[in-house]
Amino acid sequence: MLPKSPSESLTVLTDLVLPSETNPLNNLFGGELLARMDRASSITAQRHSRRIAVTASVNHVAFNRPIPLGSVVTIEAKVSRSFKSSMEIYLDVWIEDRKTGNRSKANEAIYTFVAVDDNGKPVEVAPIIPETELEKERFDAALRRKQLSLVLAGKMNPHDATELKALFS
Ligand SMILES: CC(C)(COP(=O)(O)OP(=O)(O)OC[C@H]1O[C@@H](n2cnc3c(N)ncnc32)[C@H](O)[C@@H]1OP(=O)(O)O)[C@@H](O)C(=O)NCCC(=O)NCCS
Repeated sequence: MLPKSPSESLTVLTDLVLPSETNPLNNLFGGELLARMDRASSITAQRHSRRIAVTASVNHVAFNRPIPLGSVVTIEAKVSRSFKSSMEIYLDVWIEDRKTGNRSKANEAIYTFVAVDDNGKPVEVAPIIPETELEKERFDAALRRKQLSLVLAGKMNPHDATELKALFS
């Protein structure tokens, strides 16, 4: 299978924060942002694999900054690394200043999707070749994140998580 670059799977979702999507402090409800990021990740995973892709895991979400009612929110999602059938999707969330148009980073998240056939069975996906410095950094760290996710899910023996263990030695 021919390798692809992360930019080939780029998905950009821009949307407003409406009153029905906020918490009592008038900031975007966390679950609403999770759903939007899941949608962006799903499109990204399908663009990379050209297959049906399902959410296997939400590996990391940091709600660093509240996103106020009325904000214009842009989610950018790319495949940061692919393995056999799974793909790590890295998401950056931006808020746009209404007056200046300047963007500032609000959140980051990492999801894992798995490409499947029509019966839901995992199928192989194309490898990734990172191009930019940031893409290379995210690619390099993705294996230990996968190992951590599998260990926490009880699907990998911690003794076999060599990349992860190397962090602590
Ligand atoms: C995700 C799913 C397809 C994996 O199927 P499976 O039979 O466990 O298949 P495998 O064990 O071979 O795993 C397939 C891949 O997923 C990866 N994977 C599975 N669970 C994972 C987890 N928690 N974190 C990271 N990767 C995971 C495996 O490492 C493997 O990756 P690889 O092929 O790149 O090496 C299956 O569990 C599933 O269908 N889950 C439900 C998905 C869904 O409905 N999502 C929406 C939730 S509402």
